[in-house]
Amino acid sequence: MFRGDPSAGIPAMLNRRAFLGAAAALGAASVPRLRADGTAPLHAAAAGPSETVAEATLEAAPGAIRIADDGGPPLPVWGYNGASPGPALRYRPGDTARIRVRNALPRPTTVHWHGLRVPNAMDGVPGLTQDPIPPGGEFLYEFPVRNPGTYWYHPHFQSAEQLDRGLAGAIVVEDAAPYPVDRDLTWVIDDWRLDAAGNVREDFGNLHDASHAGRLGNVATVNGRIPDPLSVQAGERIRLRLVNVANARVFALQFAGHAPVVIALDGQAVRPHAPPGGQVVLGPSMRADLVLDCTATPGSLHPVRDRAYPRTPFELTALQYLDDAPLRAGPPPPVPALPAPDLPEPDLARAEHHALVLEGGAMGGMAGAMFHGEHRGIRELARLGKVWAFNGVVAHGHAVEPWLSVATGTSHVLEVENRTAFPHPLHLHGHPVKVLARDGVASPFPVWRDSVLLMPRERVDLAFVADNPGLWMIHCHIPEHQEAGMMGVVRVG
Ligand code: C2O
Ligand code: CU
Ligand code: CU
Repeated sequence: MFRGDPSAGIPAMLNRRAFLGAAAALGAASVPRLRADGTAPLHAAAAGPSETVAEATLEAAPGAIRIADDGGPPLPVWGYNGASPGPALRYRPGDTARIRVRNALPRPTTVHWHGLRVPNAMDGVPGLTQDPIPPGGEFLYEFPVRNPGTYWYHPHFQSAEQLDRGLAGAIVVEDAAPYPVDRDLTWVIDDWRLDAAGNVREDFGNLHDASHAGRLGNVATVNGRIPDPLSVQAGERIRLRLVNVANARVFALQFAGHAPVVIALDGQAVRPHAPPGGQVVLGPSMRADLVLDCTATPGSLHPVRDRAYPRTPFELTALQYLDDAPLRAGPPPPVPALPAPDLPEPDLARAEHHALVLEGGAMGGMAGAMFHGEHRGIRELARLGKVWAFNGVVAHGHAVEPWLSVATGTSHVLEVENRTAFPHPLHLHGHPVKVLARDGVASPFPVWRDSVLLMPRERVDLAFVADNPGLWMIHCHIPEHQEAGMMGVVRVG
């Protein structure tokens, strides 16, 4: 059996055997054999700008996936085109994405294009930017693709259930000019809470998860599989696009024996740098693009460990070196920077400042908050399943009165403070934000993100230009928190 122990506490244990199991999935068979000529130039598959209409159809439907080759029954999921994750969508800047979404689920749904700067009507927020797509219905999403980078798509309706059942997929917008690597890989990382029979446990959005860290699972997958080691060849340079689609799990990945270099966060280029403490931290919804130089010796094995929850570390996967001679001799060349993000620069001298205080949850000490226009005590709120607030207001759904209304083209600084006992990945739709400072310490280089992980008691200052008119969600990306009140709306224009 590969399943984790469903009775394990929270944060749940991940069964180590699960990650060291039998047959190969991401194994040697899937590795293109690279020529060991010692001089192979680094290459990339990226293409120049385009004006193509890129058509795709996504059917959201119940399905089943094989997360392991252990002879057990497949895992029932909700997926796109039968799979979880759904198909990776690839675009070039300048493309028009035209995506027909069919809903074959038993519930309404929508699709949100996380991190992409789309027109508001295409943002996929039910009740705010569109009606939910009913079962049997469809919706045509169409938008221009702008910035290169790694993004993803997921539902925005009853997300605690729909996201957890497996509805998610990666989006890659290629660079305008090729970025030199030997392989460009995407890891969609997820976790699942499975019961003893190996099915997704259907306790979505329960008050314990909602008031604590959210829904943590007991089995982790990469691209829908309990990961076998990734086969690599000595000397190769890999671009690894990490996408955390888990509801609530924060990952802090260490690549034993390797020194990955971060080149982009949430799709936007950053100065190439070693991750602090050697750990690549990914809160829910976040992405990181790494350059991984395979500098170890042929035949060697190197674990990739998660250290986000110190009491329950586990091995996510490993790097297994082929026996082949190194692809190229000598130390790897320096890691080039991606072109700087093409985003509007906030005018800090004239920016309006806005405080956003995150409150509530277990051990958070919140006495009460406004809900549906009335002040309610925490016990009553808890009975209603609403335990988190933004600036003292508990949201009752997506279509709430804007927390902030701003004019198009103006610059803003959000001074965000996490007054709770839990981490929260705060996400703004439609506008990447520039991380100015954390706890008053300025970012050492420009960092743009669409989700910012705030640790307990942490303060961050974020800046953005409100250049995209419409009604935009701002929320914690842990759907158990979001649906328990942690969301708001920003009106632009
Ligand atoms: Cu990933 Cu409101 O979104
Ligand atoms: Cu989003
Ligand atoms: Cu949260």
